Amino acid sequence: MKTPPRLQPLVEEGLIDEVMRQLMSGKEATVYVVRCGDEIRCAKVYKEANQRSFHQAVAYQEGRRVKNSRQARAMEKGTRFGKKMAEEVWQNAEVDALYRLAAAGVTVPTPYVCFEGVLLMDLVTDAQGNAAPRLNDVEFDHDKALQFHAKLLREVILMLNAGVIHGDLSEYNILVDEQGPVIIDLPQAIDAAGSSVAASMLERDVTNLANFFGTFAPELIGSQYGKEIWNLYEAGTLTPDYPLTGKVPAPTEPVDVDAVINEIEVARLEEEDRIRRQLEQQS
Ligand SMILES: Nc1ncnc2c1ncn2[C@@H]1O[C@H](COP(=O)(O)OP(=O)(O)OP(=O)(O)O)[C@@H](O)[C@H]1O
Ligand SMILES: [Mg+2]
Repeated sequence: MKTPPRLQPLVEEGLIDEVMRQLMSGKEATVYVVRCGDEIRCAKVYKEANQRSFHQAVAYQEGRRVKNSRQARAMEKGTRFGKKMAEEVWQNAEVDALYRLAAAGVTVPTPYVCFEGVLLMDLVTDAQGNAAPRLNDVEFDHDKALQFHAKLLREVILMLNAGVIHGDLSEYNILVDEQGPVIIDLPQAIDAAGSSVAASMLERDVTNLANFFGTFAPELIGSQYGKEIWNLYEAGTLTPDYPLTGKVPAPTEPVDVDAVINEIEVARLEEEDRIRRQLEQQS
Protein backbone atom coordinates (compact mmCIF):
# COMPACT_ATOMS: atom_id res chain seq x y z
CA MET A 1 0.00 0.00 0.00
CA LYS A 2 0.98 3.65 -0.26
CA THR A 3 3.11 4.63 2.74
CA PRO A 4 1.00 6.54 5.30
CA PRO A 5 2.67 9.92 6.13
CA ARG A 6 3.30 8.92 9.77
CA LEU A 7 5.34 5.91 8.62
CA GLN A 8 7.35 7.87 6.04
CA PRO A 9 10.16 8.84 8.49
CA LEU A 10 10.73 5.16 9.35
CA VAL A 11 10.89 4.25 5.65
CA GLU A 12 13.41 7.05 5.11
CA GLU A 13 15.52 5.83 8.03
CA GLY A 14 15.48 2.31 6.58
CA LEU A 15 13.61 0.91 9.59
CA ILE A 16 10.72 -0.21 7.38
CA ASP A 17 11.03 -1.45 3.78
CA GLU A 18 7.37 -1.69 2.89
CA VAL A 19 3.99 -1.01 4.44
CA MET A 20 1.80 -3.99 3.60
CA ARG A 21 -1.60 -3.21 5.11
CA GLN A 22 -3.49 -1.59 7.94
CA LEU A 23 -4.37 -4.10 10.64
CA MET A 24 -6.51 -2.16 13.08
CA SER A 25 -7.45 1.32 14.10
CA GLY A 26 -8.07 1.44 17.83
CA LYS A 27 -8.75 4.11 20.45
CA GLU A 28 -5.14 5.07 20.89
CA ALA A 29 -3.35 3.93 17.79
CA THR A 30 -3.47 2.64 14.23
CA VAL A 31 -1.59 -0.59 13.65
CA TYR A 32 0.03 -1.61 10.33
CA VAL A 33 1.67 -4.77 9.06
CA VAL A 34 5.07 -3.86 7.64
CA ARG A 35 8.04 -5.62 6.07
CA CYS A 36 11.53 -5.02 7.44
CA GLY A 37 13.98 -6.94 5.25
CA ASP A 38 12.74 -10.55 5.38
CA GLU A 39 10.75 -10.01 8.56
CA ILE A 40 7.06 -9.18 8.82
CA ARG A 41 6.54 -6.81 11.73
CA CYS A 42 3.93 -4.58 13.23
CA ALA A 43 4.01 -0.76 13.42
CA LYS A 44 1.82 0.91 16.04
CA VAL A 45 1.24 4.57 15.20
CA TYR A 46 0.10 6.50 18.27
CA LYS A 47 -2.65 9.02 17.81
CA GLU A 48 -2.03 12.60 18.87
CA ALA A 49 -2.94 13.26 22.49
CA ASN A 50 -6.10 15.20 21.60
CA GLN A 51 -7.42 12.30 19.50
CA ARG A 52 -6.90 9.81 22.31
CA SER A 53 -9.39 8.95 24.94
CA PHE A 54 -7.49 10.05 28.00
CA HIS A 55 -9.34 7.79 30.37
CA GLN A 56 -7.88 7.65 33.86
CA ALA A 57 -5.01 9.81 32.67
CA VAL A 58 -4.51 11.26 36.12
CA ALA A 59 -4.35 7.93 37.88
CA TYR A 60 -1.87 6.67 35.33
CA GLN A 61 0.25 9.81 35.37
CA GLU A 62 1.03 9.28 39.00
CA GLY A 63 2.68 5.94 38.44
CA ARG A 64 4.65 7.13 35.45
CA ARG A 65 8.33 7.77 35.91
CA VAL A 66 9.79 10.89 34.36
CA LYS A 67 13.50 10.98 33.72
CA ASN A 68 14.36 14.39 35.17
CA SER A 69 12.81 17.18 37.17
CA ARG A 70 12.90 19.65 34.28
CA GLN A 71 10.59 17.34 32.36
CA ALA A 72 8.39 16.89 35.41
CA ARG A 73 8.07 20.65 36.00
CA ALA A 74 7.32 21.33 32.33
CA MET A 75 4.66 18.63 32.32
CA GLU A 76 3.05 20.05 35.44
CA LYS A 77 2.95 23.53 33.94
CA GLY A 78 1.47 22.25 30.68
CA THR A 79 3.80 24.37 28.50
CA ARG A 80 4.30 23.40 24.86
CA PHE A 81 7.58 21.74 25.82
CA GLY A 82 5.72 20.09 28.69
CA LYS A 83 3.02 18.73 26.41
CA LYS A 84 5.63 17.39 24.01
CA MET A 85 7.43 15.77 26.94
CA ALA A 86 4.19 14.22 28.23
CA GLU A 87 3.55 12.87 24.75
CA GLU A 88 7.00 11.30 24.57
CA VAL A 89 6.71 9.86 28.05
CA TRP A 90 3.40 8.27 27.03
CA GLN A 91 4.83 6.79 23.84
CA ASN A 92 8.06 5.62 25.43
CA ALA A 93 6.19 4.05 28.32
CA GLU A 94 5.04 1.23 26.07
CA VAL A 95 8.42 0.45 24.57
CA ASP A 96 10.05 0.73 28.03
CA ALA A 97 7.49 -1.67 29.48
CA LEU A 98 7.94 -4.11 26.58
CA TYR A 99 11.72 -4.23 27.09
CA ARG A 100 11.37 -4.65 30.83
CA LEU A 101 8.76 -7.37 30.49
CA ALA A 102 10.56 -9.28 27.74
CA ALA A 103 13.65 -9.30 29.99
CA ALA A 104 11.52 -10.61 32.88
CA GLY A 105 10.29 -13.54 30.77
CA VAL A 106 6.78 -12.21 30.14
CA THR A 107 5.32 -13.22 26.76
CA VAL A 108 5.06 -9.92 24.87
CA PRO A 109 5.87 -9.02 21.25
CA THR A 110 9.60 -8.28 20.91
CA PRO A 111 10.01 -4.51 20.58
CA TYR A 112 12.54 -3.03 18.13
CA VAL A 113 12.31 0.73 18.34
CA CYS A 114 9.99 3.63 19.12
CA PHE A 115 10.68 6.42 16.61
CA GLU A 116 8.63 9.52 15.79
CA GLY A 117 5.60 8.21 17.63
CA VAL A 118 5.71 4.78 16.01
CA LEU A 119 6.45 1.55 17.87
CA LEU A 120 7.99 -1.18 15.76
CA MET A 121 7.55 -4.68 17.20
CA ASP A 122 7.08 -8.33 16.25
CA LEU A 123 3.78 -9.23 14.63
CA VAL A 124 2.05 -11.86 16.76
CA THR A 125 0.68 -14.52 14.40
CA ASP A 126 -1.50 -17.63 14.38
CA ALA A 127 -0.43 -21.03 12.96
CA GLN A 128 -1.03 -19.81 9.39
CA GLY A 129 1.12 -16.71 9.85
CA ASN A 130 -1.87 -14.35 9.94
CA ALA A 131 -2.21 -11.67 12.60
CA ALA A 132 -3.19 -13.48 15.79
CA PRO A 133 -6.75 -13.31 17.15
CA ARG A 134 -7.58 -11.52 20.38
CA LEU A 135 -8.53 -13.61 23.41
CA ASN A 136 -12.06 -12.29 22.98
CA ASP A 137 -12.28 -13.97 19.55
CA VAL A 138 -11.21 -17.42 20.77
CA GLU A 139 -13.59 -20.13 22.02
CA PHE A 140 -12.61 -21.99 25.19
CA ASP A 141 -13.78 -25.15 26.87
CA HIS A 142 -13.70 -25.41 30.65
CA ASP A 143 -10.22 -26.93 30.98
CA LYS A 144 -8.58 -24.72 28.40
CA ALA A 145 -10.10 -21.67 30.10
CA LEU A 146 -8.59 -22.71 33.45
CA GLN A 147 -5.26 -23.45 31.82
CA PHE A 148 -5.12 -20.03 30.11
CA HIS A 149 -6.28 -18.27 33.27
CA ALA A 150 -3.50 -19.90 35.29
CA LYS A 151 -0.93 -19.07 32.61
CA LEU A 152 -2.02 -15.43 32.59
CA LEU A 153 -1.89 -15.16 36.38
CA ARG A 154 1.69 -16.36 36.10
CA GLU A 155 2.36 -13.63 33.56
CA VAL A 156 0.77 -11.04 35.86
CA ILE A 157 3.10 -12.21 38.66
CA LEU A 158 6.18 -12.04 36.42
CA MET A 159 5.13 -8.50 35.46
CA LEU A 160 4.58 -7.48 39.06
CA ASN A 161 7.92 -8.90 40.14
CA ALA A 162 9.44 -6.77 37.35
CA GLY A 163 7.66 -3.77 38.91
CA VAL A 164 5.01 -3.35 36.19
CA ILE A 165 1.21 -3.42 36.34
CA HIS A 166 -0.51 -3.53 32.95
CA GLY A 167 -3.38 -1.24 33.91
CA ASP A 168 -5.65 -2.19 30.98
CA LEU A 169 -5.45 -5.96 30.90
CA SER A 170 -8.49 -7.58 29.31
CA GLU A 171 -9.55 -10.04 26.61
CA TYR A 172 -9.01 -7.21 24.10
CA ASN A 173 -5.35 -6.64 24.97
CA ILE A 174 -4.24 -10.26 24.93
CA LEU A 175 -3.53 -12.05 21.65
CA VAL A 176 -3.40 -15.82 21.20
CA ASP A 177 -0.62 -17.41 19.18
CA GLU A 178 0.27 -21.09 18.78
CA GLN A 179 2.00 -21.17 22.16
CA GLY A 180 -0.73 -19.37 24.10
CA PRO A 181 -1.46 -15.85 25.35
CA VAL A 182 0.64 -12.81 24.37
CA ILE A 183 0.14 -9.57 26.26
CA ILE A 184 -0.02 -6.31 24.29
CA ASP A 185 -1.03 -2.64 24.61
CA LEU A 186 1.04 -1.25 27.47
CA PRO A 187 1.29 2.56 27.15
CA GLN A 188 -0.65 2.97 30.39
CA ALA A 189 1.46 0.45 32.33
CA ILE A 190 2.24 1.73 35.81
CA ASP A 191 5.05 1.34 38.26
CA ALA A 192 4.01 -1.07 41.00
CA ALA A 193 6.11 0.63 43.64
CA GLY A 194 5.50 4.29 42.82
CA SER A 195 1.74 4.50 42.70
CA SER A 196 -1.05 4.68 45.23
CA VAL A 197 -3.42 3.14 42.70
CA ALA A 198 -1.21 0.08 42.06
CA ALA A 199 -3.22 -2.32 44.24
CA SER A 200 -6.57 -1.38 42.73
CA MET A 201 -5.19 -1.44 39.16
CA LEU A 202 -3.77 -4.91 39.72
CA GLU A 203 -7.02 -6.09 41.20
CA ARG A 204 -8.98 -4.72 38.25
CA ASP A 205 -6.64 -6.39 35.73
CA VAL A 206 -6.95 -9.73 37.51
CA THR A 207 -10.72 -9.45 37.95
CA ASN A 208 -11.06 -8.80 34.21
CA LEU A 209 -9.33 -12.13 33.59
CA ALA A 210 -11.56 -13.99 36.06
CA ASN A 211 -14.69 -12.48 34.52
CA PHE A 212 -13.66 -13.35 30.98
CA PHE A 213 -12.62 -16.94 31.73
CA GLY A 214 -15.53 -17.21 34.17
CA THR A 215 -17.96 -17.49 31.24
CA PHE A 216 -16.27 -20.83 30.45
CA ALA A 217 -15.30 -21.82 34.00
CA PRO A 218 -17.87 -20.25 36.37
CA GLU A 219 -15.90 -21.17 39.52
CA LEU A 220 -13.53 -18.29 38.66
CA ILE A 221 -16.23 -15.68 39.19
CA GLY A 222 -15.80 -14.02 42.57
CA SER A 223 -12.26 -15.38 43.07
CA GLN A 224 -9.83 -13.02 44.77
CA TYR A 225 -6.60 -13.72 42.94
CA GLY A 226 -5.84 -10.01 42.57
CA LYS A 227 -5.95 -9.34 46.32
CA GLU A 228 -4.07 -12.56 47.03
CA ILE A 229 -1.28 -11.67 44.56
CA TRP A 230 -0.99 -8.13 45.93
CA ASN A 231 -0.78 -9.37 49.54
CA LEU A 232 1.99 -11.81 48.62
CA TYR A 233 3.80 -9.08 46.67
CA GLU A 234 3.66 -6.72 49.63
CA ALA A 235 4.86 -9.46 51.95
CA GLY A 236 7.79 -10.12 49.57
CA THR A 237 6.85 -13.77 49.09
CA LEU A 238 5.37 -13.69 45.59
CA THR A 239 6.84 -16.20 43.12
CA PRO A 240 5.46 -17.31 39.72
CA ASP A 241 4.93 -20.83 41.04
CA TYR A 242 3.21 -19.84 44.27
CA PRO A 243 0.20 -22.15 44.77
CA LEU A 244 -2.55 -19.52 44.58
CA THR A 245 -5.97 -20.31 46.00
CA GLY A 246 -8.01 -17.33 44.81
CA LYS A 247 -9.08 -16.76 48.40
CA VAL A 248 -7.84 -14.28 50.94
CA PRO A 249 -8.31 -14.88 54.67
CA ALA A 250 -11.07 -12.87 56.28
CA PRO A 251 -9.70 -10.04 58.45
CA THR A 252 -8.58 -11.35 61.82
CA GLU A 253 -8.90 -8.21 63.97
CA PRO A 254 -12.03 -8.32 66.17
CA VAL A 255 -14.93 -6.40 64.67
CA ASP A 256 -15.70 -3.10 66.42
CA VAL A 257 -19.42 -3.72 66.88
CA ASP A 258 -20.08 -0.31 68.45
CA ALA A 259 -18.54 1.45 65.47
CA VAL A 260 -20.68 -0.57 63.06
CA ILE A 261 -23.87 0.24 65.01
CA ASN A 262 -22.83 3.85 65.02
CA GLU A 263 -22.39 3.86 61.23
CA ILE A 264 -25.82 2.32 60.76
CA GLU A 265 -27.38 4.91 63.09
CA VAL A 266 -25.71 7.78 61.18
CA ALA A 267 -26.96 6.37 57.86
CA ARG A 268 -30.50 6.01 59.35
CA LEU A 269 -30.54 9.60 60.57
CA GLU A 270 -29.27 10.87 57.21
CA GLU A 271 -31.99 8.97 55.39
CA GLU A 272 -34.69 10.30 57.77
CA ASP A 273 -33.38 13.76 57.13
CA ARG A 274 -33.43 13.28 53.37
CA ILE A 275 -37.04 12.04 53.42
CA ARG A 276 -38.12 14.92 55.70
CA ARG A 277 -36.56 17.48 53.32
CA GLN A 278 -38.19 15.81 50.33
CA LEU A 279 -41.61 15.98 52.04
CA GLU A 280 -41.04 19.63 52.96
CA GLN A 281 -40.24 20.45 49.34
CA GLN A 282 -43.40 18.73 48.11
CA SER A 283 -45.71 20.51 50.57
N1 LIG B 1 2.27 -7.00 17.95
C1 LIG B 1 1.08 -7.22 17.43
N2 LIG B 1 0.85 -8.32 16.67
C2 LIG B 1 -0.36 -8.56 16.12
N3 LIG B 1 -1.42 -7.76 16.27
C3 LIG B 1 -1.27 -6.64 17.00
C4 LIG B 1 -0.03 -6.32 17.63
N4 LIG B 1 -0.16 -5.15 18.29
C5 LIG B 1 -1.45 -4.77 18.11
N5 LIG B 1 -2.12 -5.66 17.33
C6 LIG B 1 -3.53 -5.57 16.90
O1 LIG B 1 -3.93 -4.21 16.90
C7 LIG B 1 -4.97 -3.98 17.84
C8 LIG B 1 -4.77 -2.64 18.52
O2 LIG B 1 -3.54 -2.63 19.24
P1 LIG B 1 -3.44 -2.02 20.71
O3 LIG B 1 -4.42 -2.69 21.58
O4 LIG B 1 -2.02 -2.08 21.10
O5 LIG B 1 -3.83 -0.51 20.43
P2 LIG B 1 -5.04 0.39 20.95
O6 LIG B 1 -5.08 1.61 20.14
O7 LIG B 1 -4.95 0.53 22.40
O8 LIG B 1 -6.28 -0.45 20.56
P3 LIG B 1 -7.64 -0.59 21.38
O9 LIG B 1 -8.19 0.74 21.55
O10 LIG B 1 -8.43 -1.48 20.44
O11 LIG B 1 -7.26 -1.25 22.67
C9 LIG B 1 -4.92 -5.17 18.77
O12 LIG B 1 -6.18 -5.48 19.32
C10 LIG B 1 -4.42 -6.29 17.88
O13 LIG B 1 -5.51 -6.88 17.19
MG1 LIG C 1 -5.80 -2.25 22.93
